[in-house]
Amino acid sequence: MDTIRIALTKGRLEKNTMELFEKIGLDCTNLKEKGRKLILPITGTNIEIVLAKAADVITYVEHGVCDVGIVGKDTIMEDGHSFYEVLDLGFGKCRFALAGQVDKDFYTGYNAKRIATKYPNVARSFFEEKCMNVEIIKIEGSVELAPLLGLSDAIVDIVETGTTLKENGLEIYEEICPISARMIVNIPSMKLKKEEIEKLIDLIENKKEA
Ligand code: PRP
Repeated sequence: MDTIRIALTKGRLEKNTMELFEKIGLDCTNLKEKGRKLILPITGTNIEIVLAKAADVITYVEHGVCDVGIVGKDTIMEDGHSFYEVLDLGFGKCRFALAGQVDKDFYTGYNAKRIATKYPNVARSFFEEKCMNVEIIKIEGSVELAPLLGLSDAIVDIVETGTTLKENGLEIYEEICPISARMIVNIPSMKLKKEEIEKLIDLIENKKEA
């Protein structure tokens, strides 16, 4: 039987994905006791789990070295090009938002606003739709710092609980779109390993969160 390799996003989505895998009867012992191992076989199956950063999950699936990926819609919107997005898994729920310092009127003034973000493509298309000319500055993490330090007028970022914004005197100016974890599939794998992958999709479809 062919191996099915699933790339799983490390961090925020890891716990929920593991719970989902257990619900569909996969033995996650190797995942739980992974130590520093990055490729983890699921005992008693032909499935292998690969732990990777979100953007790399997409790269591995697009290049076909992993058949399936579990990744946030945020990363898909920013970096995704060619694969099938087959399921909304219903966890990892948050949203993209435009945010900035409390009580500042972002939309006034004539100068091009500066926007700090980890998601330059998402930010660019958001402002293009509004026909608003902005300068986008790429930041790698803790984007909330940028308006506080005076680097930007606002940020485009993911908001989950809203705590990071609140604790730093920032507020949402505009919601952009909801986000959640998705299951993606490499295009050739969907043909070549059709039976196994469809079985996996059906199992997950029936057990995923509403
Ligand atoms: C994300 C995001 C916000 C925060 C939002 O950052 O960029 O900073 O989480 O979550 P909250 O609304 O529940 O406060 P992450 O923790 O992934 O770290 P990073 O900023 O270093 O990338």
